[in-house]
Amino acid sequence: MPIQILVGAQWGDEGKGRIVDLLSAQADYIARYNGGDNAGHTVTVGSQIFKLHLTPSGIIHPHTTAVIGNGLAVNPATLFQEFDLLRKAGIEITPQRLKLSHAAHMITPGHRALDKAEEQARGKSSIGTTGRGIGPAYTDKNRRQGIRLEDMLNPAVFGQKLTAHLAQVNQSLRETFNAPELDIPAVMNEYLTYAHNLAPYIDETSLLLHQALQQGKTVLAEGAQGSLLDLDHGTYPYVTSSTTLAPGAFAGLGLGIQPVERVIGVTKVFQTRVGSGPFPSEVSGAAAERLRGHGNKPWDEYGTTTGRPRRVGWLDAVLLRYAARINGLTELALTKLDVLSGLETIRIGTAYQADGQTYHDLPLGPSDLSLFTPLFEELPGWQEDISQVRTWSELPPAAKTYVKKIEQLSGVPVSMISVGPERSQIVFL
Ligand code: IMP
Repeated sequence: MPIQILVGAQWGDEGKGRIVDLLSAQADYIARYNGGDNAGHTVTVGSQIFKLHLTPSGIIHPHTTAVIGNGLAVNPATLFQEFDLLRKAGIEITPQRLKLSHAAHMITPGHRALDKAEEQARGKSSIGTTGRGIGPAYTDKNRRQGIRLEDMLNPAVFGQKLTAHLAQVNQSLRETFNAPELDIPAVMNEYLTYAHNLAPYIDETSLLLHQALQQGKTVLAEGAQGSLLDLDHGTYPYVTSSTTLAPGAFAGLGLGIQPVERVIGVTKVFQTRVGSGPFPSEVSGAAAERLRGHGNKPWDEYGTTTGRPRRVGWLDAVLLRYAARINGLTELALTKLDVLSGLETIRIGTAYQADGQTYHDLPLGPSDLSLFTPLFEELPGWQEDISQVRTWSELPPAAKTYVKKIEQLSGVPVSMISVGPERSQIVFL
């Protein structure tokens, strides 16, 4: 009963889509278990670049079944846009190939409007959300007033719940935020059509995955965002509103506790972040531009969902070791090693300092990171272009030393290294 769980080990945008695509070749079910269309997974297949926010990227492989688990908040508008995009690229999207949990929650234009209004009201202390309505949708879920996908199966119930929700949102927009209200009849019209069209895809995905595992099928559980954006264990309050960690795969898919074959943490060989919040190893100026790129290549450091330039910095091994512990990582997939080619030296954060004390582990988790100064080790860089390298032995010695340093500091073996965005640009160890 092989379950594999793939998670981001940083603040999201680690290149998970690319690793999921790779692992999907050997998996039967690809199941997302958290988040919503705040995620952005980019997969490059030949000349085609897929930027997906909600649909599990493994669906690009024709033999897979994709699952959207109960842990997600689903914006049907995004889902149908992605259906169109994928179908135009020749990928089959049918209720046989894509299953949505009946217990997943729905994101409405009301949630998106509230997300934006709340962010504006936060002013200088804004979280820098993606504006996709994630926080308000999970708030409704936790207040036990959310709309679940199963509600769409009963148009009368769905209509009632949606009207009540939109009326409540409009009241908040009007009275609390002084923001423009939603056109309720227009939203109702749009969403009743979605309900009709989505109904065939809604299923009891917990049972489906349970049965698949019993039959010996491989399930790849795909986490969205990253470990440091986890609601409980991330850099709170600068986090997302779902459980991004590997243990969340069980609850977010409706599976019981059971052995896991692999827990793969994906991490860039440097560090990026979008949105606000502490980032001890952040760099600015020319060093930042060098790591970020200029936005002319699809894999430069600009948000897939929002297009925002990402904040960049050196790899922080204290945070990586933390991610390894809270996820139970069994292996690391390193991405973007090719981006470091040409640097004279490479820095890696090895510990933190505060009040004259050195910390190798965070005394109170990562919520108070701004109190610390990171300590760096400097390693020699390499000048060779490594984008054509396919084996460990071909890597320049300095690149091997850097990879070994990451293993040593994180305590997790590296199993694969990406050296470019293409499917084939990968080195297996
Ligand atoms: P929200 O998830 O839109 O509420 O945003 C909360 C925080 O998580 C913000 O800092 C976002 O930039 C960040 N975030 C959410 N989704 C992603 C993602 O997929 N990649 C990177 N950052 C994300």
